[in-house]
Amino acid sequence: MKRRDPSQKEGSGPQIKTDSPKKSKPRRRTKPSRISIGLSYLKLCGIIFGTIYICFPIVIRLFPALMGKLVYLNMVKLPLFVDLKNPGELLNHTVNFYLTSEEGITVGIWHTVPASRGEEAKGKDQRWFESALSDDNPVIIYLHGNGGTRAVDHRVQLMKVLSSAGFHVLSLDYRGYADSTGHPSEEGLTTDSVFLYEWVKARSRGNPVCLWGHSLGTGIATNAARKLQEKGNPADAVILESPYTNIKEAGANHPFGKIYHIFPGFEYFFLDAMARDNLVFPNDENIKMLRSPLLILHAEDDHVVPSSMGKELHKIAVNSRYPKDVKLVLYPPELGYKHKYIYKDPKLGKTLWGFLNAI
Ligand SMILES: *[C@@H]1O[C@H](CO)[C@@H](O)[C@H](O)[C@H]1NC(C)=O
Repeated sequence: MKRRDPSQKEGSGPQIKTDSPKKSKPRRRTKPSRISIGLSYLKLCGIIFGTIYICFPIVIRLFPALMGKLVYLNMVKLPLFVDLKNPGELLNHTVNFYLTSEEGITVGIWHTVPASRGEEAKGKDQRWFESALSDDNPVIIYLHGNGGTRAVDHRVQLMKVLSSAGFHVLSLDYRGYADSTGHPSEEGLTTDSVFLYEWVKARSRGNPVCLWGHSLGTGIATNAARKLQEKGNPADAVILESPYTNIKEAGANHPFGKIYHIFPGFEYFFLDAMARDNLVFPNDENIKMLRSPLLILHAEDDHVVPSSMGKELHKIAVNSRYPKDVKLVLYPPELGYKHKYIYKDPKLGKTLWGFLNAI
């Protein structure tokens, strides 16, 4: 009985199915032109992008931890095909090593010695590099911005410039970045940086040790400097390249943030998510408290973090302490240094030495 029923339906089913295509086929042949197909694709794309545009803030609101991923971008392990254990492919007289900044957290670091010691450094192991920190050359701890590893080109180029100018450079990949273990958090990145500073300071004798932050790294540099000051060992100098006032204002001015500026409730959806994810990076508040000499570098054509923020930080610093320790260098737009090409300034070494010699 049951078997017969389906067969009866099959018999009647195909008749209905074949009927409908026959009716619609002539319509399809005559009507659609290339233009209307193009338009309907455009419409479809519009609907897809519109849906993403509207849903994205809601997803961020529901899962504020995603905001952290957007801010850190540590999952972007670029550039590809670089062996971080062999920095020699990108940088001369450089050694790769790892430190345990906290129980269970291992961070990757490149140490480049001053170019003047390049010949000596050939074939030497990490112990030689470590003891080289006690020569008479100042040390810069480089705290990079979000996304990518210590092998990103503009970071490598800056290391070359600083090494040629006579500095040791230690370039850190914070927890969660590159081959470092763990997951990023504002507190964790600060801990890694404080640890590296103290590790260097214990080996550098009287040489000045400077914290250099770029972009997102500026907030980590001032967080670390504040922590060191609270511990009674203030950083010898703090250098901020393309800094923001705080991460909330940076987010609101970021090109990505601007896409959503017209979105109703931008603050509710995005900026609150930063606060709920414990993202503060308060350069403005830190600088009010800091007593370390401060150098700010900012290009006026910076399209990621506007130079008005660097100027604002400079104003805060000058108003809160002895102004001689504070210096601001602005690069006019025609130089084209934007957000990450200040290393191209041929006078950068001279600027740094001028700043350090004055303190
Ligand atoms: C290393 O130094 C040599 C000699 O100065 C130079 O030719 C070479 O390009 C440098 N390598 C890198 C990776 O910078």
